[in-house]
Amino acid sequence: MRVIVLLGAPGAGKGTQAPLLSASLGLPHIATGELFRSAARAGTALGLEAKSYMDRGELVPDDLTVRMLLERLRQADAESGAILDGFPRTVAQAAALDGALAAEGGHVEQVPYIELPEEELFNRLSGRWICRAAGHPYHLRLNPPRVPGVCDEEGSPLYQRSDDVPDVVRARLAAQLAPFHEVVDYYRRAGVLAPVDGDQSVEAVTSALLDTLLAAGERG
Ligand code: AP5
Repeated sequence: MRVIVLLGAPGAGKGTQAPLLSASLGLPHIATGELFRSAARAGTALGLEAKSYMDRGELVPDDLTVRMLLERLRQADAESGAILDGFPRTVAQAAALDGALAAEGGHVEQVPYIELPEEELFNRLSGRWICRAAGHPYHLRLNPPRVPGVCDEEGSPLYQRSDDVPDVVRARLAAQLAPFHEVVDYYRRAGVLAPVDGDQSVEAVTSALLDTLLAAGERG
């Protein structure tokens, strides 16, 4: 089972890169933020509880998040592995993932880390608009669609996530960067962290991530 954790602070470019890596590596893309948003749209108890934290920019509690992620990892399409986006976000989540994988004789294989200066994260998040049909992210200035307000791939209208308004973006960064850096240290100590410069074009970041992942795959 090949489990790759795609690490990056909020807004670093995980959701932009993960579908491209997923297509190249043939592994499903599992994003905890997206799992929470779709549960909230469906009106489930888990989704509504998660939404109350997300709307305040806070992390959803570990027990809820770990349970949901492990359930998703047990589905048939993830039998040979997955690319995780937005998980783990605390050391407790990282340890729970390690424990669950170890019980099956597995481990986190590699942790590519999209690094971006903190001052750039606010710009990336507050200018982001998302495709309603499939969640493709755009940026009003940095990564605009060909036709304003319309997704290049789906032709569907773009909308702004409720947690991308400036006040919630500030709250997310204030609450989430410290636990995020603890997770970075956790994987650095485990010797699996592979930093990639996120402050370059989307194509250049994809190619740096693929170089890192394919080299690791060949080393086996
Ligand atoms: P989640 O949905 O995971 O949000 P996030 O981690 O805050 O990350 P984002 O999706 O906001 O950013 P991204 O890195 O994917 O950047 P993107 O590619 O879109 O989580 C939402 C909430 O759910 C959390 O706040 C929390 O409450 C909860 N949650 C989720 N997982 C949890 C967990 N494990 N534990 C507890 N709570 C959890 O790019 C950003 C922008 O930049 C876009 O506009 C894009 O077009 C642009 N861009 C991307 N790359 C480039 C580039 N190279 N050049 C120029 N522009 C670029």
